[in-house]
Amino acid sequence: TVIKHFHFNVEWKTVTRVCHTKPVLTVNGKYPGPTIAVHEGDNVQVIVTNKIARNTTIHWHGVRQLRTGWADGPAYITQCPIGGGKTYTYNFTVVDQRGTLWWHAHFSWQRASVYGAFIIYPRMPFPFSPPLIQAQIPIIFGEWWNGDIEAVENEMTLYGGGPNSSDAYTINGLPGPLYPCSIKDTFIQTIERGKTYLLRIINAALNDELFFAIANHTLTVVEIDAVYTKPFTTSSILITPGQTTNVLLTADQIPDSNGMFVMAARPYLTSVFPFDNSTTIGFLKYKTTTTSRSQTNKPPMPPYTLPSNLPEMKDTLFATQFLNNLRSLGSKDYPCRVPKKIDKRVITTISLNLQDCPLNQTCKGYSNKRFYASMNNQSFIRPSVSILESHYRNLKSEFTSDFPEMPPNTFNYTGVNPVTENMNTEFGTKVLEVPFGTRLEIVLQDTNFLNPENHPIHVHGHNFFIVGSGFGNFDAEKDPKGYNVVDPPERNTVAVPMGGWAAIRLYADNPGVWFVHCHLEEHTSWGLAMGFIVKSGKEASQSLLPPPSDLPPC
Ligand code: C2O
Ligand code: CU
Repeated sequence: TVIKHFHFNVEWKTVTRVCHTKPVLTVNGKYPGPTIAVHEGDNVQVIVTNKIARNTTIHWHGVRQLRTGWADGPAYITQCPIGGGKTYTYNFTVVDQRGTLWWHAHFSWQRASVYGAFIIYPRMPFPFSPPLIQAQIPIIFGEWWNGDIEAVENEMTLYGGGPNSSDAYTINGLPGPLYPCSIKDTFIQTIERGKTYLLRIINAALNDELFFAIANHTLTVVEIDAVYTKPFTTSSILITPGQTTNVLLTADQIPDSNGMFVMAARPYLTSVFPFDNSTTIGFLKYKTTTTSRSQTNKPPMPPYTLPSNLPEMKDTLFATQFLNNLRSLGSKDYPCRVPKKIDKRVITTISLNLQDCPLNQTCKGYSNKRFYASMNNQSFIRPSVSILESHYRNLKSEFTSDFPEMPPNTFNYTGVNPVTENMNTEFGTKVLEVPFGTRLEIVLQDTNFLNPENHPIHVHGHNFFIVGSGFGNFDAEKDPKGYNVVDPPERNTVAVPMGGWAAIRLYADNPGVWFVHCHLEEHTSWGLAMGFIVKSGKEASQSLLPPPSDLPPC
């Protein structure tokens, strides 16, 4: 095994965007953070030193962490935070995974600026025999707040609502010229006519699912969440926070005099007000041989026309069709490992819940109430000792293994006033516990209209297969008959349709404690999360490894 070392210093750095200058939390002073690039099978050791007077942790989003849950990163789930001045080495091996993933802080809302690409080069050549790839280009979407991110987080958690919109979306940290003072902060990628490029697209935004398109060009999707797909060509893509998408782009257009094509990302929302409706743009710049034209990387003069192939903000039809086109490869070298039979089906609602405002407080949710969020009416509270540690040491005081499993067809969102529904939220730390090797199906049922976005549910420690999804209520009799157990998409984050459901299947073959949560940061803060324990199996190779000696104490 090859060992790859990286040094991450979590530190402040003064950054200016959209006419505002503020201290931003970074890794090694970079915003966005450095790219980690390794090979399949490598042992990765990231020495994280916390140089801020706050806690922090780092999560390797989508890396399976086989038996190494101690290196997964979510605060109070698999570790206690790394305190100011302290160091912790994340030590894990990348087993049987290849493609684009990413890393981000997993403490509070620090991932607003602490994130970067995590690239795993394959051992075998790409299965889709593309033309020679000229270059691989990370495209990371993020969000910028003019204000202090801790203040934004406090507003959301203390008052249970309020404006959640950021001040700009960004491409590789750059807002682009549609925002004030941002012409110089525009992402421009130079390409050569006739060549093919691999774009590694990551949605690191805190709270928004995004459409992305490049004017006049099509994109061929070849991979999602570091799993190859059957290639398909599309005019634009949809990507939810937490997800990654690799696409091939061929520079097959004849550029006009400025040689530039606009690329753009904007949110997909089912209702627009009062959420952010702004757009980030960047440019593809065709290299020219004409010496008369300047080759400086400046955007062209305004006005800027958005790509006509960029879907409208409420384009649910495009969103649904795009997601239905994603299929795993299911080839000899990359067989689809979807469980065809299951040992257990867990149905869980996911919802936003309005609660009366506590006395003497101001609430900003909706008619002076505040929001919580929940799964099966359990609003998740982080314990004070990490669940993994409690589990490993058999300390049962910090959590209980009685996550309620809702029987089918006992919920109904149709016609129910979403504001009055689910008022009986319970608060606590209940986890779902399954034996090693369980073939598990989880049906995620969205229950209200209040939310204008899909919920991107992310499962740590496992990839899963999306065997079915639909609008309305899941029907335990009828819907499983329509499941795709041949070539369903395999991912680590699924956008559960607004007012609908998604069924995912996985092999619970990674012993440890795993976080399952909405990747919209505000929903996680309100409790849209659960813990998931896979017990160790009988064989030595089926058990959780002991904790590293430098694991941060609680
Ligand atoms: Cu990308 Cu629990 O996170
Ligand atoms: Cu959500």
